[in-house]
Amino acid sequence: MPATASVVVPFTPKDSEPDDAPAAIPERASRYPEMRYMGSKKRLLPWIHEVLETLDFETALDPFSGTGSVAYLMKTMGRRVVASDFLNFSSLVAKATIENNRTHLDGKAVKQLLDRSRSAHSFIEDTFNGVFYTREDLQFLDSISGNIRLLQHPHQQALAFSALFRSCLKRQPRGVFTLSGDLSRYDDGRRDLRLTIEEHFLEQVEVYNAAVCDNGRRNLAYRSDVFELPKKAIDLVYLDPPYVPRADDNCYIKRYHFLEGLSCYWQGMPVDQTTKVKKIAKKHTPFNYRRNAVDAFERMFAKFSNSQIVLSYSSNGYPDLDQLISLLRRHKDTVKVFEKPHRYHFGTHKNVSRAAVTEYLIVGR
Ligand SMILES: C[S@@+](CC[C@H](N)C(=O)[O-])C[C@H]1O[C@@H](n2cnc3c(N)ncnc32)[C@H](O)[C@@H]1O
Repeated sequence: MPATASVVVPFTPKDSEPDDAPAAIPERASRYPEMRYMGSKKRLLPWIHEVLETLDFETALDPFSGTGSVAYLMKTMGRRVVASDFLNFSSLVAKATIENNRTHLDGKAVKQLLDRSRSAHSFIEDTFNGVFYTREDLQFLDSISGNIRLLQHPHQQALAFSALFRSCLKRQPRGVFTLSGDLSRYDDGRRDLRLTIEEHFLEQVEVYNAAVCDNGRRNLAYRSDVFELPKKAIDLVYLDPPYVPRADDNCYIKRYHFLEGLSCYWQGMPVDQTTKVKKIAKKHTPFNYRRNAVDAFERMFAKFSNSQIVLSYSSNGYPDLDQLISLLRRHKDTVKVFEKPHRYHFGTHKNVSRAAVTEYLIVGR
């Protein structure tokens, strides 16, 4: 069947259809702690919600959960959600916000986290001094890294890590770890750059405590490659893989290696001392390479062929929309494409024009 047999639903601004306005996004989901993260769908949540509302599902899987924003949206929609990502730091965020229904960081836990009386390792200070942050920030990170491990409850640990990751991102001028040394040229006076990481952390503990919610379902978070996830009966799979970019690259480790290392105190993730920003090894994903991407989509659609598939995609990715539709039609009787103009606020001013794209939600049933 040719790709043109599929239905395309262009985006209609809400106020042009007053009588048919879509249900508003759950309040909680709109307050989800946004992280500056490549490919985050936080700003597209109202549209994604509108599309998901048209589908019949009780259980959902988000195997590329990233910041967890879409998994959390589905959680607040009352669905049982499984969130997963191959990055450890992302899966910890999902553990804190998706899997965790009830646990908070109480005063006692926070006191324990801030305790400086125990002697701490100094790996972070030794490795990253002069690369990222101040010496005071690095010492705090060494100290809290040891203290997090003393918390009894895995969900408390995950909450503390999430608060720490968001603090580190806020304190890093461009929100990525590709630049080091003197970054004063990016200092536009914003408050986020004036607070220490410890001050940020105290604020972020409150933010993540507020994000804890119980939707009455047993939700789960995993760290896994999408192809290694166990096959389980699931009604709907939301897929948001990286896509081969027309220019640049899409490597998450290149941008977020510091958070990934921090998530396990670099245990089993040796630092490449020859690199200026002290990177760790890249994680291979076939979705980043032109020569592997089509096969990867093919295998992924086959893997989830028993579920409804909702694929987030963008007009600047490879393979193109028509090719993806025909791959999906091998497994699905109907394929519907929802589209919306979008502008990614990511990268430098130079890149902004390149970031104007059409976003797609490709729904296979
Ligand atoms: C576009 S982002 C997802 C963004 C997410 N929907 C959000 O709103 O934050 C893609 C995610 O896929 C993850 N990823 C890439 N390749 C993967 C693979 N083979 N298996 C599992 N996760 C993968 C990356 O770590 C990244 O977090």
